Amino acid sequence: MLAYLLIICVAFYVVTASLIRLVGEYLFSQKVSDEQRMAGELAVALSEPFADRDAERLYSDVRSASESTGGRIMVLDLYGVVQADTYSEYNGTQLMRSEVAMVLSGGGEAYGFYESPESGAGSFLLPGLTVDMIGLYAAPIMADESMAGVLVFITLAQDMYQSLMYIQTQMILWLVLVALAVAILSLFVSRFFTKPVSNLITGMSQMTRGDFSGRVKVKGKSEFAQLASTFNMMCDRLESLDKSRSQFVSNASHELKTPLSTMKILIETLVYQEPMDEGMCREFLGDINKEIDRLNLVINDLLTLVSMDSGEMKVNMKSASLTDMLNETMRRLQPLARERGIEMSAAIAQGVTVNCDPMKLTQVFYNLMDNAIKYTGRGGEVKIELVRKDKKAIARVIDTGIGIPKEDQMHIFDRFYRVDKARSRETGGTGLGLSIVKQVVLLHGGDITVSSEEEKGSTFTVELPLQG
Ligand SMILES: Nc1ncnc2c1ncn2[C@@H]1O[C@H](COP(=O)(O)OP(=O)(O)OP(=O)(O)O)[C@@H](O)[C@H]1O
Ligand SMILES: [Mg+2]
Repeated sequence: MLAYLLIICVAFYVVTASLIRLVGEYLFSQKVSDEQRMAGELAVALSEPFADRDAERLYSDVRSASESTGGRIMVLDLYGVVQADTYSEYNGTQLMRSEVAMVLSGGGEAYGFYESPESGAGSFLLPGLTVDMIGLYAAPIMADESMAGVLVFITLAQDMYQSLMYIQTQMILWLVLVALAVAILSLFVSRFFTKPVSNLITGMSQMTRGDFSGRVKVKGKSEFAQLASTFNMMCDRLESLDKSRSQFVSNASHELKTPLSTMKILIETLVYQEPMDEGMCREFLGDINKEIDRLNLVINDLLTLVSMDSGEMKVNMKSASLTDMLNETMRRLQPLARERGIEMSAAIAQGVTVNCDPMKLTQVFYNLMDNAIKYTGRGGEVKIELVRKDKKAIARVIDTGIGIPKEDQMHIFDRFYRVDKARSRETGGTGLGLSIVKQVVLLHGGDITVSSEEEKGSTFTVELPLQG
């Protein structure tokens, strides 16, 4: 930051310095040409009284010209001897200045500048005057086309010097002002750029501490804003993952704890209650056995999900007949349906093959059919359909059961989600079945959807890519 500021200041100084130089040179050349012209005009005006050797007229002309121009005028003859002087100081003395010599030698007009008060230059303009700078102009006085003398015109160069000084101080003032403005602006600009970065750093360190609730403010459409909104999206995702992870753990422990507590009560009754007849004991042991089965089921489902989550699930892909798979699963579940008074029917297309892991895909349709039977009352119907459509195999499990309320339909594929908690417990469900189903279908490059109406029934549609 400081380096940039320094560079800007140096650049500005260089520009200012060269500008001062340029302005100075311009003013100088302007003044020189003006005054040189004036000296030439004076030489013409004074040539007549000088040539006529009219001393009185020459003096009065010299004095009035001095008054109107504000400079000192001297008229010299061809030997450099002063014939007339504004202040009559040099009359009769030879003024051998280099400019005079130059004119006398036929070099045309000449000028020179004299600085420093010590040189006595000031008094050269006005006796006793102490100034910093004077200009001396010499021009030939012509008479009848030949040089008759030299005109010396001395002016004060102080005004030019002062205006240059004035410009210089003004420019230095501007330099300081601009440098200050640049410093403030760059501070502001750098803050503008570093603020979002420091916000991001704060958000990230918050995240590193395991707190995903922090969000970064998004302003505008710059790259930083995009970065911030991507970061926020990442936070959303991580937060929801974190939430679902802890929800999963608490749900899982709840599901494991319930059969364990039931078993504990049953066992305590068996151990401490005396005397108990054999029939009662058998009933209790049978209940314990059921709870163990349930525990086993939950643990198996959990293990399946965990292995799918970690990506360690091994899939054994091969070409298999979906037609056979559906028929076989239906056959396995037929007794259960009969027992529940449910009529099962099928409209399964022949010879439909897909590339799949048959074990896992069978599990999918088993779960769907099991649900259809579980959530359909006595006298209901469950229909299995399989059709081919646009390089896809479309399988449907249709029931005339209790249906799923609209607001629950988007959640039924979530882990542990059950529409009617009490009823599901009664039917032995854990709410893991459909989430496993969905994961397996996605693993096969397929999709699963549900359409359902309360009290009318549900249809689960599984789409799988056909082989080849
Ligand atoms: N065919 C259906 N008809 C009505 N509701 C259903 C149907 N299939 C699923 N559901 C609802 O969706 C919920 C989730 O189903 P899911 O199969 O995941 O769990 P579950 O059947 O309760 O338990 P399990 O893990 O033993 O399968 C069920 O609890 C039930 O409320
Ligand atoms: Mg189920």
